[in-house]
Amino acid sequence: MLDFTYYTPTKVVFGKHTEEQVGRLTAEQGAKKALVHFGGQSAQKSGLLDRVAESLHAAGVETVLLGGVKPNPRLSLVYEGIDLCRKEGVDFLLAVGGGSVIDSAKAIGYGLANEGDVWDFYEKKRQPSACLPVGVVLTIAAAGSEMSDSSVITKEEGGLKRSVKSDLSRPRFAVMNPELTYTLPPYQTASGCTDILMHTMERYFTPRQGQGAEFTDGLAESLLRTVMASARVLRDDPLNYDARAHVMWAGSLSHNGLTGCGTLGDWATHQLEHELGGMFDVAHGAGLAAMWGSWARYVYREDPARFARFARNVMGLCDVGSQEQTALAGIEAFEGFLRDIRMPVNLPQLGLEVTDAQIDELAYKCTFMGKRTIGSFKVLGEEDIKAIYRMAR
Ligand code: NZQ
Ligand code: ZN
Repeated sequence: MLDFTYYTPTKVVFGKHTEEQVGRLTAEQGAKKALVHFGGQSAQKSGLLDRVAESLHAAGVETVLLGGVKPNPRLSLVYEGIDLCRKEGVDFLLAVGGGSVIDSAKAIGYGLANEGDVWDFYEKKRQPSACLPVGVVLTIAAAGSEMSDSSVITKEEGGLKRSVKSDLSRPRFAVMNPELTYTLPPYQTASGCTDILMHTMERYFTPRQGQGAEFTDGLAESLLRTVMASARVLRDDPLNYDARAHVMWAGSLSHNGLTGCGTLGDWATHQLEHELGGMFDVAHGAGLAAMWGSWARYVYREDPARFARFARNVMGLCDVGSQEQTALAGIEAFEGFLRDIRMPVNLPQLGLEVTDAQIDELAYKCTFMGKRTIGSFKVLGEEDIKAIYRMAR
């Protein structure tokens, strides 16, 4: 097992009607005036936004509203949020929504607490030294941003989707009522489940030195089996509370670091998807689903035993000959699961006809214009990245 630091400062308030506590939780943080940040229309339509505002006002917290966050949240709205909060003297950021809203709130928090252009942090030109406090009312189980250290923002100019990681942005609290996710369209539920699975799989498919982490592996395998089973339940029964609850809690634990303690992690599939999100504005989880099988077939020979273990312990398969054959059967079975929940397993199924020139551009951007490799299970350079995109089309 590798050395690690595990830091999860987020207070989780989980269960039915928990959004009624948001005023008290925000006031406990010493907030006087909160930006209530939200997305397109779901939180307004369901009445959640009104209930949140009522709870804040009852607790003596003033509110400023800023909606309009789009999936793959945009830098332009982040700038607008920074200006608005400065003008209004906001001292707390409350994200009511999913990963996009939370990440946009985190970006506004960085922009308010540091001098200069907030995009510098996403371009890795410098590190933030502070972030205004963020709280969350979660409405979709997916990105895990409610407990994570990440914020992912898209700069419209150039279609660049980039992330910042810092403990400074980990939310102070996360209110999680699984019932709030009942209104999700089936595609978003499935896409969210895929993202949750991938956050643990990115940590599970790790280079050999991570493989002493038996306890972490056991947690990871249990989480993966539970989310897959719940995703299948939700496909047919979207109002199943327990399945919604399992997925929501697993979504947070899958990306707060727990299922990666003592391992290195890989993250290549995420990097491949981020370029697709930046260029084609696809749903993040669906983009991951479209890329994973091609990544897996490209890299599995680095450590077939790892993939064979996944086939047995997660997909429930028996050994089917050599380790390599079992590994491939596991990849095939996982793609079968994705098809079952109506997720794409390649780029055409994601709705993309990607040209050779676009693959060159995706791969170039993915290496940060020739400045980095991605992945650690197998380290991937620009030619590897192109090959994986080609396999996926
Ligand atoms: O805008 P509204 O109308 O709210 O609609 C949203 C949006 O269209 C809808 N939705 C959310 N809750 C709903 C609902 N519709 C009905 N009922 C509800 N209760 O769902 C759509 C997707 O929302 P979004 O916030 O984009 O989803 P998600 O949580 O999957 O977030 C995706 C973003 O997070 C980033 C992704 O790259 C992507 O930009 N990620 C952030 C991470 C992090 N910060 O740690 C890690 C992830 O790997 C990921 O990269
Ligand atoms: Zn993700």
